[in-house]
Amino acid sequence: MGITPDSGIGRDMNRESYDAIAVQWEQVRVRMSDAEQRILELLCGDLRFGCTVLDLGCGTGRPIAEYLVSQGFSVTGVDQSVQMLGFARQRLPTQEWILANLDTFVPGQSFSAVIAWDSLFHVSRVLYGSIFRNVKMALQPGGRFALTVGGSEHPPFTDTMFDREFFYDSHSPEVALQLLRDTGFELVHSEFLNLPTSGRDKGRFAMVARAA
Ligand SMILES: C[S@@+](CC[C@H](N)C(=O)[O-])C[C@H]1O[C@@H](n2cnc3c(N)ncnc32)[C@H](O)[C@@H]1O
Repeated sequence: MGITPDSGIGRDMNRESYDAIAVQWEQVRVRMSDAEQRILELLCGDLRFGCTVLDLGCGTGRPIAEYLVSQGFSVTGVDQSVQMLGFARQRLPTQEWILANLDTFVPGQSFSAVIAWDSLFHVSRVLYGSIFRNVKMALQPGGRFALTVGGSEHPPFTDTMFDREFFYDSHSPEVALQLLRDTGFELVHSEFLNLPTSGRDKGRFAMVARAA
């Protein structure tokens, strides 16, 4: 039987798999690419010192939360993997780290900016609408939301990384963009970080949007 977007299979698989590979991830995910650096500047270049940024699917806190803190911002990071979050807590102990699933997490305060970097393509596409609405509600007026989604239309699938299986799903860039607009965001910037190939790589697409 194929994996359907709402089968829920991905949640436990990804939590267990990220817990299992956290040590390897910590070793390889060290610095931002030039594109990531550019997008982080678009996300928070205009923010005042001390503003708080919500990082959805924050992983180990490196390099993204680490960069945000180095720029003088506070970070609230959310992740469902105890082991990934453990690295983030150790690295940046004065920031706020919340163990939660993006499917159900509802922010309890407002934020100056939100980032969901390489985390949404692990979440069933049927949940994007409610996640975008929660982000919009949590953002202060004019606040920005940076996110990546998959770079093409494809059914949900699993793939391996560090010998563990991971679940992937995503709206196409066009549908994700429309959904953002329907939720009350205006597009500030978008780019393909890598283009889909005819093989395993479904592509990766980044957007920065502004809460209208
Ligand atoms: C590819 S890593 C990216 C981590 C970080 N954003 C970065 O850029 O290095 C994806 C992260 O999203 C988290 N994640 C995936 N699905 C999630 C979910 N449903 N709820 C919470 N976290 C999730 C994983 O545990 C993992 O830490």
